Amino acid sequence: MLELKGLSYQVEDNGGQTDILRGIDLTIPDNKFVVITGPNGGGKTTLAKAIMGLVRSTGGQIFWNGTDITDLSITDRAKLGISYGFQQPPRFKGLRVRDLLELASGNKKLTRDECCSYLNRVGLCAADYVDREVDASLSGGEVKRIEIATILARPGGLLIFDEPEAGIDLWSFAKLTETFRVLHGKGENTIIVISHQERIIDLADEIVMISGGKVVRQGPKEEIMPHILADTGGMCSFLQPNTDSCRQPKEG
Ligand SMILES: Nc1ncnc2c1ncn2[C@@H]1O[C@H](COP(=O)(O)OP(=O)(O)OP(=O)(O)O)[C@@H](O)[C@H]1O
Ligand SMILES: [Mg+2]
Repeated sequence: MLELKGLSYQVEDNGGQTDILRGIDLTIPDNKFVVITGPNGGGKTTLAKAIMGLVRSTGGQIFWNGTDITDLSITDRAKLGISYGFQQPPRFKGLRVRDLLELASGNKKLTRDECCSYLNRVGLCAADYVDREVDASLSGGEVKRIEIATILARPGGLLIFDEPEAGIDLWSFAKLTETFRVLHGKGENTIIVISHQERIIDLADEIVMISGGKVVRQGPKEEIMPHILADTGGMCSFLQPNTDSCRQPKEG
């Protein structure tokens, strides 16, 4: 179980303080598929990075399976089974795709067939990629899919994906959503996906909407989805769900 208690992140900005995360309280039970959504700049990526330890929260606590991980390093969090897929994945000159997959699986020696099966699951024709270097010669979408494949190769735990659909074509997107569905069906992982895509949101057990560094809505998909559709379809901003600036389109 993941528990965030009053999680805050504040940065020094132009001589003042800016609150990026403002006291986030969130509990995610084991094996749940949770989608975090909300407007650009709301704090989703920062929240994911704070859970992984890529940014150090400035207030509050993070518990993973009852252990306070607030002060643990990224490496120690990874050892406890937490992994994070970047919105814009880095490239690693000199490392082949198969090396990355082996590293992700905990330094296990993987057969070529095993490597290929991970790559197939993200819509890549495996034979073309398994021995390629993860360098600048790969397209943005290819790097993104390879990165998702490495997350699939990890042993069970907490998997965090930040906009996995970004830069992926329609065919691979269909494969990706299917992969998420199967991964969730196995019941071995707690999955957090940051996404703006209805088809990914639709896979969720629970939706969390983050705006202005806070949780503004949270609940089962059936309860939250109508609010999202109303907010976006009615030209309302998530940021101002209850203000006069939230107008419905004119009829006729
Ligand atoms: N180190 C920092 N210094 C100043 N501002 C920051 C810093 N880190 C994040 N921010 C700001 O905090 C806000 C939240 O950023 P974040 O990347 O978490 O948003 P997001 O919800 O992931 O948005 P998107 O949907 O566009 O990916 C943004 O306005 C961003 O510019
Ligand atoms: Mg983001």
